[in-house]
Amino acid sequence: EKGGYPHFMLKEIFEQPDCIRDCMRGRINVEANNVVLSAIIDYKEHLLNAKRFIIVACGTSWHAGLIGKHLIESFCRIPVEVEYASEFRYRDPVIDEHDVVIALSQSGETADTLAAVDLAKSRGAFIYGICNAIGSSIPRATYTGSYIHVGPEIGVASTKAFTGQVTVLVMLALTLAKEKGTIGEEQYLTIVKELSHIPEKMKEVLKLNDTLAELSKTFTYAHNFIYLGRGYSYPVALEGALKLKEISYIHAEGYPAAEMKHGPIALIDAEMPVVVIATQNGLYEKVLSNIQEIKARKGKVIAFVTKGDTVISKIADCSIELPETIECLDPLITTVPLQLLAYHIAVCKGMDVDQPRNLAKSVTVE
Ligand code: F6R
Repeated sequence: EKGGYPHFMLKEIFEQPDCIRDCMRGRINVEANNVVLSAIIDYKEHLLNAKRFIIVACGTSWHAGLIGKHLIESFCRIPVEVEYASEFRYRDPVIDEHDVVIALSQSGETADTLAAVDLAKSRGAFIYGICNAIGSSIPRATYTGSYIHVGPEIGVASTKAFTGQVTVLVMLALTLAKEKGTIGEEQYLTIVKELSHIPEKMKEVLKLNDTLAELSKTFTYAHNFIYLGRGYSYPVALEGALKLKEISYIHAEGYPAAEMKHGPIALIDAEMPVVVIATQNGLYEKVLSNIQEIKARKGKVIAFVTKGDTVISKIADCSIELPETIECLDPLITTVPLQLLAYHIAVCKGMDVDQPRNLAKSVTVE
């Protein structure tokens, strides 16, 4: 049942190219010049007239929500808030019939997310679900939505559901932006075409498995890790840190790279591994200077860079090259090696990666 893999988590990491294809099937046409999420078209009046979107989620799904905010704000010019469902539901939030709530949940059973949906419904908001488990409670409670279609996720640490959620959020933002007229034709076509190439590029990333397994051996001693990213890579840093802590029990923090100098940089010394997502996008130069700040304090930098990068590879202690893609799709590429890094560190430490201590696959109690 694990398809020859030692753990469900590794199987699910390796399934991602196929899962992303399944997720896009019937939504992106064969010419890769059009994307349609049918629920968006069916409910476009509600969505286009919304004054605000609120994404509610927990854990890894909340990280996908942060990427969703960036996508929807950039392409649709609609303000988006991302809320931890557990905080939102107990805060008497300001919400009414002009708001659209997007509930993001792999299991569709997370108690806090479901309660947030019920609260938003009672205040008259329009509710859209993005879930994986077909027919689960959240899809039943929402007015409409889109499944991510990545197949059952068994490993407690969420992997393919995250990339599936990001893929649906990209398709949602593109479908809506086209309806709203807030995206140029050329940019739209470039993103759709590139999205259709993501599965092949993910396959290339998976070839780094042995390299990452080898690298992981050097980090089993670590008690702490810092993960840094900016822009679309900031939520990826949070997600990389969460993966590491939940399965290896190493304390890890994700930060927006520029926040370092406001406090966390005090933690940096020669013992501190710092994972930096430093691909060639709009904030590359900024991230480069953040890396220099860390090196000046003797931190150990593990940089994930775009193939052919010659600058960061000279200053980082270790740099891993990833296939190039466009900025808004970067999370679909950069998340994968971070999943593998967390997996291999946990395996090296002899941990039970599929069933980490204290965690359950779906959190149906608050
Ligand atoms: C982390 C993880 C959890 C879930 C969270 C929400 O790897 O699996 O953080 O993401 O419990 O679960 P869903 O998406 O099922 O609502």
